[in-house]
Amino acid sequence: MPACPQDLRQGFAHYPGYFSLQEQQSLIAAVRAGVQHAPFFIPRMPGTGAPLSVVMSNFGPLGWVADKEKGYRYQGAHPKTKQDWPAMPQRLLDMWDALTAYPCPPEACLINWYREGNKMGAHIDNDEQDARAPVVSVSLGDPAMFRLGGPKRGGPTQGIKLFSGDVVVMGGESRFCYHSVSRIFYGESTLVPRGGRINLTLRRVNLCQA
Ligand code: SIN
Ligand code: FE2
Repeated sequence: MPACPQDLRQGFAHYPGYFSLQEQQSLIAAVRAGVQHAPFFIPRMPGTGAPLSVVMSNFGPLGWVADKEKGYRYQGAHPKTKQDWPAMPQRLLDMWDALTAYPCPPEACLINWYREGNKMGAHIDNDEQDARAPVVSVSLGDPAMFRLGGPKRGGPTQGIKLFSGDVVVMGGESRFCYHSVSRIFYGESTLVPRGGRINLTLRRVNLCQA
């Protein structure tokens, strides 16, 4: 795995306010429609079975899931309903084309719902075959403190407050940086009907043949 650069800006981009309020509302409507069909599930750590604090669902041909028995992986069906995931909203595919130079579309859009006090521990997205593809993530609802670290867990981090409508691209070498969400500014936004923050993370999983 290539090293995460000292210069954290290499391959990392933050687009504040990329989505208008109207677009944010329409993405939230798409999430609400999606989870009617593919309900939020509680991901669990492999081995211990401890729950992650966020609940999840997915859009797209593949979805990221995590459980005690089989660990972290992508699969085409919801773990409980066994049905396909809902289709990826076109607006997200358009965003991927506009912000990345990657020749194939993303296959998975993970939906993370952060409620009061929820966090995301430091990790590297590492379950994809094609690490040349960037990871693109959309913030909706309450702001969050995103922390971008280095190639090793526990090193120095840079905090970036992400607001509703912001987009982050982790491409190039920043693809291999530890990152986390250390805090949700709960209640600062009214966009999410039941409160909190929705994060949409788009990823290419399989190698792109194009
Ligand atoms: C993640 O890296 O998995 C989530 C990032 C975020 O919620 O902004
Ligand atoms: Fe991540």
